[in-house]
Amino acid sequence: MSGRKMLVRILSLFLLVGVTGSLAYALSNVRKGYEPRQPIPFRHPRMAGAAVWQKDAKGEAVNVGGFEIPCLYCHTMPYKGRHSTVPSTAVCMNCHTTVGLGKEWVLKLKDYWDRGEPVPWVKVHDLPDFVYYDHSAHLNARNEKGEPKIPVTDAEGRPINACEACHGKVENDEIVRVRVDFNMQWCLDCHRKPEMKGSTDCVTCHR
Ligand code: HEC
Ligand code: HEC
Ligand code: HEC
Ligand code: HEC
Ligand code: HEC
Repeated sequence: MSGRKMLVRILSLFLLVGVTGSLAYALSNVRKGYEPRQPIPFRHPRMAGAAVWQKDAKGEAVNVGGFEIPCLYCHTMPYKGRHSTVPSTAVCMNCHTTVGLGKEWVLKLKDYWDRGEPVPWVKVHDLPDFVYYDHSAHLNARNEKGEPKIPVTDAEGRPINACEACHGKVENDEIVRVRVDFNMQWCLDCHRKPEMKGSTDCVTCHR
Protein backbone atom coordinates (compact mmCIF):
# COMPACT_ATOMS: atom_id res chain seq x y z
CA MET A 1 0.00 0.00 0.00
CA SER A 2 1.33 3.48 -0.86
CA GLY A 3 2.28 5.79 1.99
CA ARG A 4 -0.40 8.26 0.95
CA LYS A 5 -3.19 5.69 0.86
CA MET A 6 -2.07 4.46 4.27
CA LEU A 7 -2.12 8.00 5.68
CA VAL A 8 -5.65 8.53 4.35
CA ARG A 9 -6.76 5.30 5.99
CA ILE A 10 -5.25 6.22 9.34
CA LEU A 11 -6.67 9.74 9.21
CA SER A 12 -10.11 8.41 8.39
CA LEU A 13 -9.78 6.03 11.31
CA PHE A 14 -9.12 8.93 13.68
CA LEU A 15 -12.03 10.80 12.09
CA LEU A 16 -14.30 7.82 12.59
CA VAL A 17 -13.31 7.64 16.23
CA GLY A 18 -13.86 11.40 16.63
CA VAL A 19 -17.27 11.29 14.98
CA THR A 20 -18.53 8.31 16.90
CA GLY A 21 -17.09 9.77 20.10
CA SER A 22 -15.67 6.40 21.05
CA LEU A 23 -12.14 7.62 21.77
CA ALA A 24 -12.52 7.94 25.52
CA TYR A 25 -14.16 4.55 25.56
CA ALA A 26 -11.50 3.00 23.35
CA LEU A 27 -8.66 4.33 25.48
CA SER A 28 -10.09 3.11 28.74
CA ASN A 29 -10.12 -0.40 30.11
CA VAL A 30 -13.87 -0.45 30.60
CA ARG A 31 -14.15 -3.89 29.03
CA LYS A 32 -11.96 -5.57 31.64
CA GLY A 33 -14.19 -7.31 34.13
CA TYR A 34 -17.28 -7.05 31.89
CA GLU A 35 -19.48 -9.88 33.06
CA PRO A 36 -23.00 -9.68 31.61
CA ARG A 37 -25.81 -11.82 33.02
CA GLN A 38 -26.96 -14.44 30.52
CA PRO A 39 -30.56 -15.49 29.71
CA ILE A 40 -29.70 -18.96 31.01
CA PRO A 41 -27.04 -19.18 33.73
CA PHE A 42 -24.80 -21.43 31.67
CA ARG A 43 -22.01 -22.62 33.96
CA HIS A 44 -18.71 -23.46 32.27
CA PRO A 45 -17.41 -25.12 35.49
CA ARG A 46 -20.28 -27.63 35.31
CA MET A 47 -19.97 -28.33 31.56
CA ALA A 48 -16.24 -27.86 30.86
CA GLY A 49 -14.64 -27.99 34.32
CA ALA A 50 -12.81 -30.88 35.99
CA ALA A 51 -14.82 -33.67 37.60
CA VAL A 52 -15.07 -33.79 41.41
CA TRP A 53 -16.43 -37.06 42.77
CA GLN A 54 -18.18 -37.19 46.14
CA LYS A 55 -20.23 -39.79 47.98
CA ASP A 56 -23.90 -38.85 48.38
CA ALA A 57 -26.12 -39.79 51.37
CA LYS A 58 -26.62 -43.30 49.95
CA GLY A 59 -22.86 -43.76 49.58
CA GLU A 60 -23.02 -43.54 45.76
CA ALA A 61 -20.34 -41.60 43.89
CA VAL A 62 -21.71 -38.43 42.24
CA ASN A 63 -19.88 -35.87 40.15
CA VAL A 64 -20.39 -32.50 41.84
CA GLY A 65 -17.73 -30.91 39.60
CA GLY A 66 -17.71 -30.66 35.82
CA PHE A 67 -18.21 -32.95 32.85
CA GLU A 68 -14.97 -31.94 31.08
CA ILE A 69 -16.65 -31.35 27.72
CA PRO A 70 -13.86 -30.03 25.42
CA CYS A 71 -14.10 -26.34 24.46
CA LEU A 72 -14.11 -27.28 20.79
CA TYR A 73 -17.18 -29.51 21.17
CA CYS A 74 -19.22 -26.31 21.61
CA HIS A 75 -16.97 -23.60 20.12
CA THR A 76 -16.31 -25.35 16.85
CA MET A 77 -14.68 -22.62 14.77
CA PRO A 78 -11.64 -21.01 16.46
CA TYR A 79 -9.06 -23.01 14.49
CA LYS A 80 -10.99 -22.61 11.24
CA GLY A 81 -12.37 -19.09 11.05
CA ARG A 82 -12.30 -15.51 12.24
CA HIS A 83 -14.97 -16.06 14.84
CA SER A 84 -15.17 -18.75 17.43
CA THR A 85 -19.00 -18.89 17.56
CA VAL A 86 -21.21 -19.70 20.52
CA PRO A 87 -22.99 -23.06 20.08
CA SER A 88 -26.52 -23.32 18.73
CA THR A 89 -29.15 -24.92 20.96
CA ALA A 90 -28.95 -28.04 18.78
CA VAL A 91 -25.51 -28.73 20.31
CA CYS A 92 -26.97 -28.53 23.83
CA MET A 93 -29.85 -30.77 22.80
CA ASN A 94 -27.42 -33.56 21.88
CA CYS A 95 -27.56 -34.21 25.62
CA HIS A 96 -30.43 -32.20 27.04
CA THR A 97 -33.28 -33.99 25.29
CA THR A 98 -32.58 -36.63 27.94
CA VAL A 99 -30.14 -35.20 30.53
CA GLY A 100 -30.88 -32.82 33.41
CA LEU A 101 -34.64 -32.51 32.74
CA GLY A 102 -35.23 -32.09 36.47
CA LYS A 103 -33.32 -28.78 36.45
CA GLU A 104 -35.15 -25.46 36.10
CA TRP A 105 -32.69 -23.95 33.62
CA VAL A 106 -32.46 -27.03 31.47
CA LEU A 107 -36.27 -26.81 31.12
CA LYS A 108 -35.92 -23.11 30.14
CA LEU A 109 -33.41 -24.18 27.50
CA LYS A 110 -35.88 -26.75 26.21
CA ASP A 111 -38.58 -24.02 26.04
CA TYR A 112 -36.42 -21.99 23.65
CA TRP A 113 -35.79 -25.13 21.62
CA ASP A 114 -39.47 -26.08 21.44
CA ARG A 115 -40.38 -22.53 20.35
CA GLY A 116 -37.67 -22.67 17.67
CA GLU A 117 -35.99 -19.55 19.15
CA PRO A 118 -32.23 -19.20 19.60
CA VAL A 119 -31.08 -18.46 23.15
CA PRO A 120 -30.27 -14.71 23.16
CA TRP A 121 -26.75 -15.10 24.62
CA VAL A 122 -25.16 -11.73 25.43
CA LYS A 123 -21.80 -11.22 23.73
CA VAL A 124 -19.01 -10.86 26.30
CA HIS A 125 -15.95 -10.16 24.14
CA ASP A 126 -16.81 -7.64 21.46
CA LEU A 127 -14.27 -5.52 19.62
CA PRO A 128 -15.32 -2.37 17.73
CA ASP A 129 -16.08 -3.00 14.05
CA PHE A 130 -13.01 -1.06 12.90
CA VAL A 131 -10.72 -3.72 14.39
CA TYR A 132 -9.85 -6.86 12.44
CA TYR A 133 -9.26 -9.97 14.52
CA ASP A 134 -9.04 -13.61 13.46
CA HIS A 135 -9.02 -16.59 15.83
CA SER A 136 -7.62 -19.10 13.35
CA ALA A 137 -4.61 -16.90 12.50
CA HIS A 138 -3.69 -16.91 16.20
CA LEU A 139 -4.36 -20.51 17.08
CA ASN A 140 -2.62 -21.90 13.98
CA ALA A 141 0.45 -19.61 14.20
CA ARG A 142 3.67 -21.65 14.61
CA ASN A 143 7.31 -20.80 15.29
CA GLU A 144 10.40 -22.05 13.39
CA LYS A 145 10.33 -25.28 15.42
CA GLY A 146 6.74 -25.89 14.35
CA GLU A 147 5.37 -25.35 17.88
CA PRO A 148 2.19 -23.31 18.40
CA LYS A 149 3.03 -19.68 19.27
CA ILE A 150 0.03 -19.33 21.58
CA PRO A 151 1.11 -21.46 24.57
CA VAL A 152 -0.46 -24.89 25.04
CA THR A 153 1.49 -25.65 28.24
CA ASP A 154 1.87 -23.63 31.46
CA ALA A 155 5.15 -22.58 33.11
CA GLU A 156 5.53 -26.06 34.62
CA GLY A 157 4.95 -27.77 31.26
CA ARG A 158 1.45 -29.02 32.10
CA PRO A 159 -1.01 -28.93 29.17
CA ILE A 160 -3.45 -25.99 29.07
CA ASN A 161 -5.92 -25.04 26.39
CA ALA A 162 -4.71 -22.33 24.05
CA CYS A 163 -7.75 -20.18 24.80
CA GLU A 164 -6.27 -19.34 28.21
CA ALA A 165 -3.78 -16.77 26.85
CA CYS A 166 -6.64 -14.41 26.02
CA HIS A 167 -9.68 -15.66 27.94
CA GLY A 168 -8.20 -17.03 31.16
CA LYS A 169 -9.45 -20.28 32.68
CA VAL A 170 -13.02 -20.11 31.40
CA GLU A 171 -13.64 -23.59 32.80
CA ASN A 172 -13.49 -22.01 36.29
CA ASP A 173 -15.75 -19.01 35.52
CA GLU A 174 -19.27 -19.29 36.92
CA ILE A 175 -20.00 -16.30 34.65
CA VAL A 176 -17.77 -15.65 31.64
CA ARG A 177 -15.84 -12.45 32.18
CA VAL A 178 -13.34 -10.36 30.20
CA ARG A 179 -10.09 -11.22 31.99
CA VAL A 180 -7.66 -8.92 30.14
CA ASP A 181 -7.52 -5.22 29.20
CA PHE A 182 -8.86 -6.06 25.75
CA ASN A 183 -7.70 -2.81 24.14
CA MET A 184 -5.12 -1.92 21.51
CA GLN A 185 -2.27 -1.87 24.02
CA TRP A 186 -3.05 -5.41 25.05
CA CYS A 187 -2.90 -6.64 21.43
CA LEU A 188 0.34 -4.76 20.78
CA ASP A 189 2.04 -5.94 23.99
CA CYS A 190 1.70 -9.52 22.85
CA HIS A 191 2.52 -8.83 19.19
CA ARG A 192 5.79 -7.21 20.31
CA LYS A 193 6.98 -10.24 22.26
CA PRO A 194 10.00 -11.75 20.48
CA GLU A 195 8.50 -15.24 20.56
CA MET A 196 5.25 -14.00 18.96
CA LYS A 197 6.57 -11.79 16.14
CA GLY A 198 3.08 -10.39 15.53
CA SER A 199 2.79 -7.44 13.18
CA THR A 200 2.40 -3.92 14.62
CA ASP A 201 1.47 -2.31 11.26
CA CYS A 202 -1.73 -0.34 11.58
CA VAL A 203 -3.29 -2.09 8.59
CA THR A 204 -2.88 -5.52 10.18
CA CYS A 205 -5.70 -4.72 12.58
CA HIS A 206 -7.37 -1.77 10.82
CA ARG A 207 -8.12 -2.78 7.23
C1 HEC B 1 -21.35 -27.31 26.52
C2 HEC B 1 -20.95 -26.25 25.65
C3 HEC B 1 -19.74 -25.39 25.99
C4 HEC B 1 -18.46 -25.82 26.34
C5 HEC B 1 -17.95 -27.23 26.53
C6 HEC B 1 -17.67 -24.62 26.47
N1 HEC B 1 -18.44 -23.51 26.22
FE1 HEC B 1 -17.81 -21.58 26.17
N2 HEC B 1 -19.73 -20.93 25.92
C7 HEC B 1 -20.82 -21.75 25.76
C8 HEC B 1 -22.03 -20.93 25.73
C9 HEC B 1 -23.48 -21.43 25.61
C10 HEC B 1 -21.61 -19.57 25.85
C11 HEC B 1 -22.49 -18.31 25.87
C12 HEC B 1 -22.99 -18.04 27.27
C13 HEC B 1 -21.95 -17.45 28.18
O1 HEC B 1 -21.24 -16.50 27.79
O2 HEC B 1 -21.82 -17.94 29.32
C14 HEC B 1 -20.16 -19.62 25.96
C15 HEC B 1 -19.34 -18.50 26.06
C16 HEC B 1 -17.95 -18.53 25.99
C17 HEC B 1 -17.08 -17.38 25.86
C18 HEC B 1 -17.55 -15.94 25.78
C19 HEC B 1 -18.14 -15.64 24.41
C20 HEC B 1 -18.37 -14.16 24.20
O3 HEC B 1 -19.53 -13.77 23.99
O4 HEC B 1 -17.40 -13.40 24.28
C21 HEC B 1 -15.79 -17.81 25.85
C22 HEC B 1 -14.54 -16.98 25.72
C23 HEC B 1 -15.84 -19.25 25.99
N3 HEC B 1 -17.16 -19.66 26.07
C24 HEC B 1 -14.72 -20.06 26.06
C25 HEC B 1 -14.76 -21.42 26.35
C26 HEC B 1 -13.59 -22.22 26.67
C27 HEC B 1 -12.18 -21.70 26.70
C28 HEC B 1 -14.04 -23.50 26.89
C29 HEC B 1 -13.23 -24.71 27.32
C30 HEC B 1 -12.49 -24.55 28.56
C31 HEC B 1 -15.48 -23.49 26.71
N4 HEC B 1 -15.88 -22.21 26.41
C32 HEC B 1 -16.32 -24.61 26.81
C33 HEC B 1 -20.80 -23.12 25.64
C34 HEC B 1 -19.72 -23.93 25.93
C1 HEC C 1 -22.20 -33.79 26.40
C2 HEC C 1 -23.46 -33.57 27.06
C3 HEC C 1 -23.91 -32.14 27.34
C4 HEC C 1 -23.98 -31.08 26.47
C5 HEC C 1 -23.59 -31.06 25.00
C6 HEC C 1 -24.53 -29.97 27.21
N1 HEC C 1 -24.79 -30.34 28.50
FE1 HEC C 1 -25.62 -29.16 29.95
N2 HEC C 1 -25.46 -30.71 31.30
C7 HEC C 1 -24.97 -31.98 31.01
C8 HEC C 1 -25.01 -32.78 32.21
C9 HEC C 1 -24.57 -34.23 32.34
C10 HEC C 1 -25.57 -31.94 33.24
C11 HEC C 1 -25.83 -32.27 34.71
C12 HEC C 1 -27.28 -32.66 34.83
C13 HEC C 1 -27.68 -32.91 36.27
O1 HEC C 1 -26.97 -32.48 37.18
O2 HEC C 1 -28.74 -33.52 36.43
C14 HEC C 1 -25.83 -30.64 32.61
C15 HEC C 1 -26.37 -29.55 33.30
C16 HEC C 1 -26.75 -28.36 32.69
C17 HEC C 1 -27.41 -27.26 33.37
C18 HEC C 1 -27.79 -27.22 34.84
C19 HEC C 1 -26.54 -26.83 35.57
C20 HEC C 1 -26.67 -26.76 37.03
O3 HEC C 1 -25.68 -27.08 37.68
O4 HEC C 1 -27.73 -26.38 37.52
C21 HEC C 1 -27.60 -26.26 32.44
C22 HEC C 1 -28.25 -24.91 32.65
C23 HEC C 1 -27.05 -26.74 31.19
N3 HEC C 1 -26.53 -28.02 31.37
C24 HEC C 1 -27.02 -26.01 30.01
C25 HEC C 1 -26.44 -26.43 28.82
C26 HEC C 1 -26.38 -25.63 27.62
C27 HEC C 1 -26.93 -24.22 27.48
C28 HEC C 1 -25.73 -26.38 26.69
C29 HEC C 1 -25.39 -25.99 25.28
C30 HEC C 1 -24.62 -24.78 25.12
C31 HEC C 1 -25.40 -27.66 27.31
N4 HEC C 1 -25.84 -27.64 28.61
C32 HEC C 1 -24.76 -28.71 26.67
C33 HEC C 1 -24.52 -32.43 29.78
C34 HEC C 1 -24.42 -31.67 28.62
C1 HEC D 1 -4.99 -14.28 20.85
C2 HEC D 1 -6.13 -14.11 21.71
C3 HEC D 1 -7.24 -15.13 21.69
C4 HEC D 1 -7.15 -16.51 21.81
C5 HEC D 1 -5.90 -17.36 21.94
C6 HEC D 1 -8.51 -17.00 21.81
N1 HEC D 1 -9.39 -15.96 21.69
FE1 HEC D 1 -11.43 -16.06 21.68
N2 HEC D 1 -11.56 -14.03 21.37
C7 HEC D 1 -10.47 -13.18 21.24
C8 HEC D 1 -10.92 -11.87 20.82
C9 HEC D 1 -10.04 -10.67 20.56
C10 HEC D 1 -12.34 -11.96 20.70
C11 HEC D 1 -13.32 -10.85 20.29
C12 HEC D 1 -13.54 -10.93 18.80
C13 HEC D 1 -14.46 -9.86 18.25
O1 HEC D 1 -15.15 -9.18 19.00
O2 HEC D 1 -14.49 -9.71 17.02
C14 HEC D 1 -12.70 -13.33 21.06
C15 HEC D 1 -14.00 -13.83 21.06
C16 HEC D 1 -14.35 -15.14 21.38
C17 HEC D 1 -15.70 -15.67 21.41
C18 HEC D 1 -16.97 -14.89 21.09
C19 HEC D 1 -17.35 -15.14 19.63
C20 HEC D 1 -16.43 -14.46 18.67
O3 HEC D 1 -15.62 -15.16 18.01
O4 HEC D 1 -16.47 -13.24 18.55
C21 HEC D 1 -15.62 -17.00 21.78
C22 HEC D 1 -16.76 -17.99 21.93
C23 HEC D 1 -14.20 -17.30 21.95
N3 HEC D 1 -13.47 -16.15 21.70
C24 HEC D 1 -13.72 -18.56 22.27
C25 HEC D 1 -12.38 -18.92 22.21
C26 HEC D 1 -11.90 -20.29 22.37
C27 HEC D 1 -12.78 -21.51 22.62
C28 HEC D 1 -10.53 -20.24 22.26
C29 HEC D 1 -9.55 -21.39 22.32
C30 HEC D 1 -9.74 -22.49 21.36
C31 HEC D 1 -10.16 -18.83 22.04
N4 HEC D 1 -11.31 -18.08 22.00
C32 HEC D 1 -8.86 -18.36 21.91
C33 HEC D 1 -9.15 -13.51 21.49
C34 HEC D 1 -8.66 -14.79 21.62
C1 HEC E 1 -1.19 -13.81 23.25
C2 HEC E 1 -0.60 -13.07 22.16
C3 HEC E 1 -1.48 -12.28 21.22
C4 HEC E 1 -2.50 -11.42 21.55
C5 HEC E 1 -3.01 -11.05 22.94
C6 HEC E 1 -2.99 -10.89 20.29
N1 HEC E 1 -2.31 -11.44 19.24
FE1 HEC E 1 -2.67 -11.07 17.25
N2 HEC E 1 -1.19 -12.35 16.74
C7 HEC E 1 -0.43 -13.10 17.62
C8 HEC E 1 0.40 -14.02 16.88
C9 HEC E 1 1.39 -15.02 17.47
C10 HEC E 1 0.12 -13.79 15.51
C11 HEC E 1 0.74 -14.53 14.30
C12 HEC E 1 2.09 -13.96 13.99
C13 HEC E 1 2.69 -14.76 12.84
O1 HEC E 1 3.08 -15.90 13.09
O2 HEC E 1 2.70 -14.23 11.73
C14 HEC E 1 -0.88 -12.75 15.46
C15 HEC E 1 -1.41 -12.25 14.26
C16 HEC E 1 -2.43 -11.32 14.19
C17 HEC E 1 -3.03 -10.84 12.96
C18 HEC E 1 -2.62 -11.23 11.55
C19 HEC E 1 -3.60 -12.27 11.08
C20 HEC E 1 -3.49 -12.59 9.63
O3 HEC E 1 -4.54 -12.73 9.01
O4 HEC E 1 -2.35 -12.70 9.13
C21 HEC E 1 -4.02 -9.96 13.32
C22 HEC E 1 -4.96 -9.21 12.40
C23 HEC E 1 -4.03 -9.89 14.76
N3 HEC E 1 -3.05 -10.73 15.25
C24 HEC E 1 -4.88 -9.07 15.49
C25 HEC E 1 -4.91 -9.02 16.89
C26 HEC E 1 -5.80 -8.16 17.65
C27 HEC E 1 -6.77 -7.17 17.05
C28 HEC E 1 -5.55 -8.41 18.95
C29 HEC E 1 -6.18 -7.79 20.17
C30 HEC E 1 -7.63 -7.71 20.21
C31 HEC E 1 -4.52 -9.44 19.02
N4 HEC E 1 -4.15 -9.77 17.75
C32 HEC E 1 -4.01 -9.96 20.21
C33 HEC E 1 -0.46 -13.03 19.01
C34 HEC E 1 -1.37 -12.28 19.76
C1 HEC F 1 -2.48 -5.76 16.91
C2 HEC F 1 -3.64 -5.02 16.52
C3 HEC F 1 -3.56 -3.51 16.33
C4 HEC F 1 -2.59 -2.80 15.66
C5 HEC F 1 -1.33 -3.32 14.99
C6 HEC F 1 -3.02 -1.41 15.69
N1 HEC F 1 -4.21 -1.32 16.35
FE1 HEC F 1 -5.29 0.40 16.63
N2 HEC F 1 -6.66 -0.64 17.72
C7 HEC F 1 -6.62 -1.99 17.98
C8 HEC F 1 -7.73 -2.33 18.83
C9 HEC F 1 -8.06 -3.72 19.38
C10 HEC F 1 -8.45 -1.14 19.07
C11 HEC F 1 -9.71 -0.97 19.88
C12 HEC F 1 -9.34 -0.50 21.24
C13 HEC F 1 -10.54 -0.33 22.10
O1 HEC F 1 -11.61 0.02 21.59
O2 HEC F 1 -10.39 -0.54 23.29
C14 HEC F 1 -7.74 -0.09 18.34
C15 HEC F 1 -8.13 1.24 18.34
C16 HEC F 1 -7.50 2.22 17.62
C17 HEC F 1 -7.95 3.60 17.57
C18 HEC F 1 -9.08 4.15 18.36
C19 HEC F 1 -8.57 4.86 19.63
C20 HEC F 1 -7.52 4.20 20.44
O3 HEC F 1 -6.37 4.72 20.45
O4 HEC F 1 -7.75 3.16 21.11
C21 HEC F 1 -7.10 4.27 16.74
C22 HEC F 1 -7.16 5.74 16.34
C23 HEC F 1 -6.11 3.32 16.29
N3 HEC F 1 -6.39 2.08 16.83
C24 HEC F 1 -5.05 3.63 15.45
C25 HEC F 1 -4.00 2.76 15.17
C26 HEC F 1 -2.80 3.15 14.43
C27 HEC F 1 -2.52 4.56 13.90
C28 HEC F 1 -2.01 2.04 14.36
C29 HEC F 1 -0.62 1.90 13.76
C30 HEC F 1 0.40 2.72 14.38
C31 HEC F 1 -2.75 0.94 15.04
N4 HEC F 1 -3.93 1.44 15.50
C32 HEC F 1 -2.30 -0.36 15.12
C33 HEC F 1 -5.70 -2.89 17.50
C34 HEC F 1 -4.56 -2.56 16.77
